Amino acid sequence: MCGIVGYIGDKQAAPLLLEALKKLEYRGYDSSGIALVHEGALKVAKAQGRLQVLCERTGDGGSMPGRIGIGHTRWATHGEPNDTNSHPHLSQSGRVALVHNGIIENYMELREFLTKRGYSFATDTDTEIAVQLMDYCYHGDPVHAVREAVNMLTGSFALGILFQDFPDQLLAVRKDSPLVIGLGEGENFIASDIPALLAHTRDILRLSEYELAVIRKDGVAVFDRYGTQQAKQPEHVDWDAGAAEKGGYAHFMLKEIMEQPAVIRDTVRPRIKEGRIELGLLHITPEDIKNADRIYIVACGSAAHVGHIARLYIERMTRLPVCVELASEFRYCNPLVTSRTLTIAISQSGETLDTLFALREAKARGSKTISIVNVVGSTIAAASEDVIYTWAGLEIAVATTKAYSAQLAVCYLLSLYMGQCRGIVSAAETAEALEQIQALPAQIERQLAESQSIQYLASLYFGCKDIFFIGRNLDYAMALEGSLKLKEISYIHSEAYAAGELKHGTISLIEPGTLVVALCTYAPLRDKMISNIREVKARGATVLAITEEGMEQVQETADHVMWLPKAPELVTPSLAIIPLQLFAYYVALLKGCDIDKPRNLAKSVTVE
Ligand code: G6P
Repeated sequence: MCGIVGYIGDKQAAPLLLEALKKLEYRGYDSSGIALVHEGALKVAKAQGRLQVLCERTGDGGSMPGRIGIGHTRWATHGEPNDTNSHPHLSQSGRVALVHNGIIENYMELREFLTKRGYSFATDTDTEIAVQLMDYCYHGDPVHAVREAVNMLTGSFALGILFQDFPDQLLAVRKDSPLVIGLGEGENFIASDIPALLAHTRDILRLSEYELAVIRKDGVAVFDRYGTQQAKQPEHVDWDAGAAEKGGYAHFMLKEIMEQPAVIRDTVRPRIKEGRIELGLLHITPEDIKNADRIYIVACGSAAHVGHIARLYIERMTRLPVCVELASEFRYCNPLVTSRTLTIAISQSGETLDTLFALREAKARGSKTISIVNVVGSTIAAASEDVIYTWAGLEIAVATTKAYSAQLAVCYLLSLYMGQCRGIVSAAETAEALEQIQALPAQIERQLAESQSIQYLASLYFGCKDIFFIGRNLDYAMALEGSLKLKEISYIHSEAYAAGELKHGTISLIEPGTLVVALCTYAPLRDKMISNIREVKARGATVLAITEEGMEQVQETADHVMWLPKAPELVTPSLAIIPLQLFAYYVALLKGCDIDKPRNLAKSVTVE
């Protein structure tokens, strides 16, 4: 959620920390701050608002001397986003400074504990409790203080910590929130996310749960929860640093929309070998799939929308019951998991806390687990028995596009594979389906080349106050994503409905001029959709339909049409998402919204 960075070395830390924070601004962006140790004192600068405000306040860091420091971009949980509540937080004595990502759940209890011991609190945050607790536990040994304090914390945390008396070491510790250490030459770094490190190093250490790192400029020592030093192997990341740049596009979102053909190619191609699907499952056997009693799909946001499509694919190809559960609900619903159940977690970041906990819950109840994840080595990937990576590359825009499409492609392959394992999908059907998905990137390229027509439609409707998205079956699942994309970046109120359900209440909201986006791509129910279009039109709605080329009946019924190339039923969702993404993008652009960083949102949601 929040972004964390830290540096120790021979360079001036502040400019470097601010540069690194720029790469993490997508994680949270309501305020930011840095802390440095210089000439025996901790110095802090913080600012409400975008990182730019802090850069201006500190002369891009130039006015803050010091060769060791920590930095933070915040997505507020406890306490409004103002200067005081921004991180880093200082302990009452001024001896300890700390940045935090996550939520300290027992902070009320600890606040009482510390208040009784003479501590008072300057902020409304849960984080301040952690820094005061470390101060309380500090009797000359920072590592001991951090370990003791961390053992008293419940909740989730990634922490970067500075002690005024120890200007030669930076401490870091994590539980349930990501944190990596970047290894340089005579300098070392910490970051909540790899993109912050790419300008400096590609050699990283990932901290495991409760591991505590002591980071000096010439070395890093990692200890487990009990103080035993760990031998950690550095990992080399070969990510393309250019992926973190806009590459000539006005926004990351547009760049990422345009990357979708390549992303689908990269995700699908390595999984097809001599006409066979090879997903690289190491633990879950064809026998497990054959004997499965049900499938749960757990995910949040757009990944959950992929889950709704995957459900229709998998049920069709395996005849197994599939439940798509919002991860935040699954955890607490006493799910019907047995040792024959298969749970699939879908997550771009691999760090979404609700999805991680849902996966762990399923595992604890005996389920087999597969995750579909974009970020290699992420916590969800590590927590599941098998992982299928989407090769979407770095996704920066908060509103997901290319990772969504890559997840969809993986779900298509996975459902075919499972259908084969269960003897329902034949080799000939698989071969045909594989041809269809391999033809997709070229079709999407053609759609993207004609984006002006969507731009025109956006210009007609960007002034709308309410927009409804309707569809049936696969089209309903698409409507969910189309509506979310639009509302998250353009702030237009929007709802998605199963078209047949509209008349059970929501149709009362349709009045003359209300825009209804009607997805009519699912051929078996197209006639029913046309009836639903007529129903809303009879109440004055303006209808923007999405359908395949040649569907004149839809064109005659609707006011405007977004055309899709003709394609087989099950790959159509991958085509239908393109105009929906572009429509949301252009509407937001015309409204002058901050497209890559929509208000109140964060890319990686590491709190419950
Ligand atoms: C956030 C993002 C969404 C994303 C969701 C789940 O809300 O803004 O785009 O779909 O988290 O994230 P995940 O990383 O688990 O896919």
